[in-house]
Amino acid sequence: MVIPGPEQFINNPEYRVLVVAPSGRDAELTCKLLVDAGIVCVACSSVESACAQLSTPTGAVIIAEEALNPERVQRLAEIMERQPSWSDFPLILLTIPGVVSVSSVQRSQLRRPLGNVLLLERPIRPETLISTLMNALRARQRQFQLRDEMVQNLQAEQALRQSEKLAVAGRLAASITHEINNPLEAVTNLLYLIETCEELNTAKEYARLASEELKRVAEITAHTLNFHRQPIHPVMIEMPALIDSVLTLYRQKLKSSGISVERKYEHAPQILGMSGELRQLFANLVGNAADAMKQGGVLRIRVKSSSTASGGMPGVRVTVADSGCGIDPKNLRKIFEPFFSTKGNMGTGLGLWVSSSIVQKHDGRIQVKSCNKEGRCGTVFSVFLPINQAKPELLANAATEQIA
Ligand SMILES: Nc1ncnc2c1ncn2[C@@H]1O[C@H](COP(=O)(O)OP(=O)(O)O)[C@@H](O)[C@H]1O
Ligand SMILES: [Mg+2]
Repeated sequence: MVIPGPEQFINNPEYRVLVVAPSGRDAELTCKLLVDAGIVCVACSSVESACAQLSTPTGAVIIAEEALNPERVQRLAEIMERQPSWSDFPLILLTIPGVVSVSSVQRSQLRRPLGNVLLLERPIRPETLISTLMNALRARQRQFQLRDEMVQNLQAEQALRQSEKLAVAGRLAASITHEINNPLEAVTNLLYLIETCEELNTAKEYARLASEELKRVAEITAHTLNFHRQPIHPVMIEMPALIDSVLTLYRQKLKSSGISVERKYEHAPQILGMSGELRQLFANLVGNAADAMKQGGVLRIRVKSSSTASGGMPGVRVTVADSGCGIDPKNLRKIFEPFFSTKGNMGTGLGLWVSSSIVQKHDGRIQVKSCNKEGRCGTVFSVFLPINQAKPELLANAATEQIA
């Protein structure tokens, strides 16, 4: 971390200092001192107007103690409490001079809730005020650096999530091309048969078959469009329908790898969730299962109603089980970490990392069991999602966070 120098505060509005000294010439003299030192200074006529200014980046506040009363301290304390985790806002308090008395003790109790307070007793030498302020601004700069690092980390994480989304889209595109190609070939053949057919009823039957095939193309394109179309608000989700829409897009890939699909959908409640994210979650699990069964196998998907281990929150449990190669026990702990992949260039290692964060956002749980011993290989992912109906705002915030 770079150690800040005072020149970084000169004429820098992010490090402006609010001065609240309503009586006498304190405000004027303090502001002059700060301006001479090159600090951007805003004289505020009251604590209330300083509070209003605090929504824009500020380096520190200098307050004359007589400007405070219990209500104003309360107002300031509320703002200090709402600070983000990186912030510890510096307040420099110019205290009323004098010996310890009942009223000075009362004043010290009054300012206790204000947090990071530096006391300077008047009369203050200009150098003392400036050096205290510079220390406060240095501390503030470290807080701003922490804020910037947090933003960068968040952006890097979002970029990773986005790249995994694109990788899923890329993998699906190959499967969808096959999926659409088959009915189109069938339609081309049927049109040829209609052209050469002399029997009206037979031609009608060909036309009916062709329109069935085209219906299938329309169904696939609708599912594809829906796949990445993420509503920004949570919606009620019927889990079997959501799983089916994922399977529709993987049908060709599963078929060409010789994988049969067994679905068992029991009665389960609808849950409130982000449909696009949940589709991505199950596409990851189905895609991984298909990758693990290159030589064919069985994909078993089960949906049933369930509740949290403590029996509290009702919800739905989806298990995605495959008879594939299984996961080496030494890798089992690593599979949810970003960039862990055993697929070389074919994998991003982000699928399960994104999947687990989607499950967390929905307040759910994801578990895995796997065996890679010959003769009884296979992997089961089990996802529990609570109905979440009591907290749509939580999911909606999660959604906006993803967009920002
Ligand atoms: N169903 C599965 N069967 C076997 N291995 C799996 C299965 N699901 C996940 N894995 C293992 O977990 C790793 C991480 O998976 P994931 O995060 O989706 O990344 P990727 O699929 O890009 O490798 C995979 O590379 C694979 O080794
Ligand atoms: Mg994957």
